[in-house]
Amino acid sequence: MGSTYYITTPIYYVNDLPHIGHIYTTVMADILARYHRMAGRDVRFLTGTDEHGQKIERAAAARGVAPIELADRVVARYHALWEQLEISHDDFIRTSEERHQRGVAEIIRRIRAAGDLYKGEYKGWYCAGCEAFYPETQLEDGRCPDQGHPVELLSEPSYFFRLSAYQDRLLQWYRDNPDCIQPRTRYNEVMRFVEGGLRDLSISRVSLKWGVPFPGDPEHVVYVWLDALTNYISALGFGSDDDTLFQRYWPARLHLVGKDILRFHCVYWPAFLMSAGLPLPERIFGHGWWMRDEAKMSKSLGNVVRPDHLLERFGSDPLRYYLAREMAFGQDASFSDEAFVERYNSDLANNLGNAASRTLSMTHRYLEGSVPAPASDGPVAEAARATITAYTAHMEALEPHRALDSVWQLLTAINGYIQEQQPWSLAKDGEAAMPRLREVLGTALEGLRVVSVLIAPVMPGVARRLGAQLGLGEGEPRTGSLEWTTGPGARKLGPSEPLFPRVDVKAFLKEIAMTESRPTAPAEQPDDGTITIDQFASVHLKVGMVVEAEQVPKSRKLIRLMVDLGEGEPRQLVAGIAGRYAPGDLVGRRVVVVANLKPARLMGVESRGMVLAATVDGEPFLLAPDGEVPPGSEVR
Ligand code: MSP
Repeated sequence: MGSTYYITTPIYYVNDLPHIGHIYTTVMADILARYHRMAGRDVRFLTGTDEHGQKIERAAAARGVAPIELADRVVARYHALWEQLEISHDDFIRTSEERHQRGVAEIIRRIRAAGDLYKGEYKGWYCAGCEAFYPETQLEDGRCPDQGHPVELLSEPSYFFRLSAYQDRLLQWYRDNPDCIQPRTRYNEVMRFVEGGLRDLSISRVSLKWGVPFPGDPEHVVYVWLDALTNYISALGFGSDDDTLFQRYWPARLHLVGKDILRFHCVYWPAFLMSAGLPLPERIFGHGWWMRDEAKMSKSLGNVVRPDHLLERFGSDPLRYYLAREMAFGQDASFSDEAFVERYNSDLANNLGNAASRTLSMTHRYLEGSVPAPASDGPVAEAARATITAYTAHMEALEPHRALDSVWQLLTAINGYIQEQQPWSLAKDGEAAMPRLREVLGTALEGLRVVSVLIAPVMPGVARRLGAQLGLGEGEPRTGSLEWTTGPGARKLGPSEPLFPRVDVKAFLKEIAMTESRPTAPAEQPDDGTITIDQFASVHLKVGMVVEAEQVPKSRKLIRLMVDLGEGEPRQLVAGIAGRYAPGDLVGRRVVVVANLKPARLMGVESRGMVLAATVDGEPFLLAPDGEVPPGSEVR
């Protein structure tokens, strides 16, 4: 196996803010990138944004902004989110960048030189949701067969790519490389699709302005999927004067994508590369979909899981862990808050947290924090050796959920060993039991050291904190040299702190219900989505004046406000507006408040009402009356 490892995520459309599904692809790629770095490989990890095409042009028009403004805004959110999630990408490519457009121009130049380009007329159906063309025979009830989006009829001049000429070569490539598409079920699906025959592909549009100008014919823009797929090489400098990175890292070892975009990656992309005379990626892995409580997530159902609350409440590692552990890599899974918090409590707080806190506190108490030598064999050493082997095999086989499973087997062995050896009893047995006590704690600590290395790709922050508590140096963990070390520790533990405070499930679920705006239909609501004037009147809206404001401790978004609503005593409200407002700017401001909302607790702080704000891409803009109206005035 070569020592370079180039891994990519799909580039994300900028018409929407990231949700748990987008995060999943990037977190899994990050876990693999970190694992391969740990295994000593020269890793390059790319992610980015897909900014052109009809979908983005329309989303921008609907918001009354230029497409690039929308892209800039959403890209800023992606950068912030990736930082929060500790994504360790080496590069972030935007298709609006010049370096990318040079790569697109070069691949088209090569495709043209290979004789695979011709001008014609595209007549047929287009789905802006998938940015894909469909023949009429494939439509289902007049909608796109993949996602059920609406389609529209196009009839316009277009450049075509001779995809039909690549059917045999693609089939040959799949046969010669049975691992090039994974999991196996996806490989079979793609084979069947290509065996069914391929039509030439329209690769330019004239009825659209927001795209890369088509080389040699600027009336056309490049079809957004040809544009987007090229990011994997344009980011390495393909098409520019300096292609050192391209020479070093191409072909990619792994394109990680969701199963919905497999056809683009396993059929179009290799065919474009073949035509351009470029090597093909080694592997494309199509992961499954996150559903919400068994249903597909969609904006219109209002059941899309956004990461903000979980990240704010738990930090990034528990979410990374949950995503990696809960979904068998390759299959679908359902996201539920209950399952999240249960896993948090059982796997993290109970299993990992307890093993660490017990062992560390006993070592501080009985041995003044100095780390003794472990037993060279016995149940924990055996479990650790088995875990190291299994973990490595599973990571190499793209089964990170299984790799984690093997780490938890080691934790079970450590907890079982402590229970059985009862170091707290040994500590009472005086000097004679000291050697045994030292060995037991040394063994548990060595087990935890192995765990701290193995969890690092999945929970980098926890691994660092656990490493510091175990008194390990700052150096990057390496699996390549990972083994059960038997020498005397000769090191001191660092100070201990709890890794995972337990969470009360009921309180957490209540809190989630408060922070999510899931559509709930009042019983008497007419089914056309309208409400009656009486229903509206049941919401008491009032003008308030902010008299006090402070950041809620440990929260990035929440501000605690005291608001004068003309009731004598000011009311306490909590508002998720810290991203845009500093507490100091709020005092003296008039706001509009829902005054009869049932009180709720947010991050432990009671909120008796809700401040109204317009939201633009998740950013709040407070509403205020147009004049100095007295606090308590009604709003109708
Ligand atoms: N822009 C294209 C990709 C171009 S790559 C050259 C695109 N973007 S996307 O933003 O719609 O989706 C990006 C990734 O998020 C895809 O891999 C997709 O599968 C993944 N997910 C979006 N929703 C998802 C779930 N509900 N669950 C898991 N992943 C899903 O497609």
